[in-house]
Amino acid sequence: MCGIVGYIGDKPVADLLITGLRRLEYRGYDSAGLAVVGDEGLRVEKQKGKVSDLAEGFAEHDLVGTLGIGHTRWATHGVPNDVNAHPHTNSAGDFALVHNGIIENYGVLRKRLKEKGYTFVSDTDTEALVHLIDNVRAETNLPLEEAVRQALTQVIGTYGIAIVSAHDPNTLIAARKGSPLILGIGEGEYFIASDAAPLVEHTRQVVYLNDGEMVILHRESYEVKTVENVSLEKEVHELEWSLGQIEKDGYDHFMFKEIMEQPEALEDCMRGRVRPEENTIVLGGLIDVLERLRAARRIVIVACGTSWHAGLVGEYLIEQYAQVPVEVEYASEFRYRDPILGEGDVVIAISQSGETADTLAAVREAKRKGALVLGICNVVGSTIARETDAGVYLHAGPEIGVASTKAFTCQVCVLAMIALKLAENRSLTDAELAEGLRALHALPEKVREVLKVNEEVQRMAQVYRYASNFLYLGRGYNFPVALEGALKLKEISYIHAEGYPAAEMKHGPIALIDRFMPVVFIATRDRTYDKIVSNIEEVAARQGSVIAITDQGNGELDALCEYVLRIPSIEEFISPILTAIPLQLLSYHIAVMRGCDVDQPRNLAKSVTVE
Ligand code: AGP
Repeated sequence: MCGIVGYIGDKPVADLLITGLRRLEYRGYDSAGLAVVGDEGLRVEKQKGKVSDLAEGFAEHDLVGTLGIGHTRWATHGVPNDVNAHPHTNSAGDFALVHNGIIENYGVLRKRLKEKGYTFVSDTDTEALVHLIDNVRAETNLPLEEAVRQALTQVIGTYGIAIVSAHDPNTLIAARKGSPLILGIGEGEYFIASDAAPLVEHTRQVVYLNDGEMVILHRESYEVKTVENVSLEKEVHELEWSLGQIEKDGYDHFMFKEIMEQPEALEDCMRGRVRPEENTIVLGGLIDVLERLRAARRIVIVACGTSWHAGLVGEYLIEQYAQVPVEVEYASEFRYRDPILGEGDVVIAISQSGETADTLAAVREAKRKGALVLGICNVVGSTIARETDAGVYLHAGPEIGVASTKAFTCQVCVLAMIALKLAENRSLTDAELAEGLRALHALPEKVREVLKVNEEVQRMAQVYRYASNFLYLGRGYNFPVALEGALKLKEISYIHAEGYPAAEMKHGPIALIDRFMPVVFIATRDRTYDKIVSNIEEVAARQGSVIAITDQGNGELDALCEYVLRIPSIEEFISPILTAIPLQLLSYHIAVMRGCDVDQPRNLAKSVTVE
């Protein structure tokens, strides 16, 4: 979703902002812009389309300066066009503002400001905030920083904002409530950004801003305050990301790179945690809450999208191993339905980005109701990671492709580690635990094996790229993988796809089956294998085109299926980590062949920071 980057220092700012905006492209956007303060005053360039279009749209000498802000906009209020793009300026054009989030009371503000004579040129909610700041400044004669502060107290909604003024070439003002902002501290220079991606090549020193905080960047120093003007001492953190991790590194797409990185991502995820030699699992982030977690009467998992699918696998894992009832909820539903949470309930929020607005709201609701709230996040220092009581990081490395791949497999891996940890010295004998740890330990090597199906999947994709619909079916641990496979395909190739528990097929979806309907079965040799084979027979009998994912050495399905992809056998509890991979590859190759923008699919954002 929208991205902000800002800079104050001694380097030419326009190029630096353009590079920063390119790094933010993965978040999803439809227009881009920047504002630079220099000897010529304040200059703004903005337009619909890609950052590359914006970069081509102005000459270097147009935007000279060492202070500026940039923005990628993901439209909420008003269509994507040049006028609605950010930055927005006040009518006099002497300050410019970029904004992430939604000003919910923009209608009221707009009406009030229009009555006072303000003219609106865009359809955005943001413009109401710009004129509001201008109005406060005009009526009170306060300096811009103070006017911003006062205006923010009148705003209902969410914001991450950055502001520069033609009258003050030595100051950048930023503030957040509900939309992430990170301050980067360089040598004689400062940055502000929505996430770490634009910062990595400049500095590793960062300060995470919390809701209700403002940062004032000067050329030689910075101040962090609350919106109520109380000065704050903030801890400086070290960024973990490296530049190599956020670049394509020779791959055509981030998504493919991230699929191929899964063996190493899983190794990093388990490093120091899975300890076969001591027959234990150590999850440092849970040590302080382990007893409460073990005593949980019920666990509620909240998440969205792919993370929700991982949560469904978590339900199977935790119920099987820890014998604790688990419910999995869409965060967006949980937050509004006044959920019943009592003593002994533990809420686990799963979020790759750690910034998803609905999941964050669910976390806050659960905390408000007194539950112990844990986070499973990938982005270190993200809001959910900071607001939860404890948690486990994925350590999967940055995930840039909008379609989540390595985050999913690492989320399942973390949930498997949690399940085994909860079962340690309880429902599992030492020997059973040792078996589980051996399975986890062997996982990265098996993932390397699975990735060898890539070329075969590519050939399959040639055949299926023109399909208009797909069905994905699986059972048990692989039912959520069916949902995930369908989501992957629809989000990047725009082919309609549905996932179902295989046994549900006969209760409706079977009506869809004909020779034009590809049906992907996850048919690994587990407890439900025989039942799945019956379902495959049913589809084959109706001329559906079956693709099956099964174990190496299993030739039983060949006669029934168009394609059989064979992957190494693995213990059932972690099989989703293997079975998801051919489905990721299938959607990737189909999307590439259909000419889709794989890493930035239409309308989608990597980090969904609005409701
Ligand atoms: C995944 O491919 C999707 N793009 C999306 O469903 C995503 O998983 C969802 O928005 C949740 O994101 P989060 O894990 O960062 O909270």
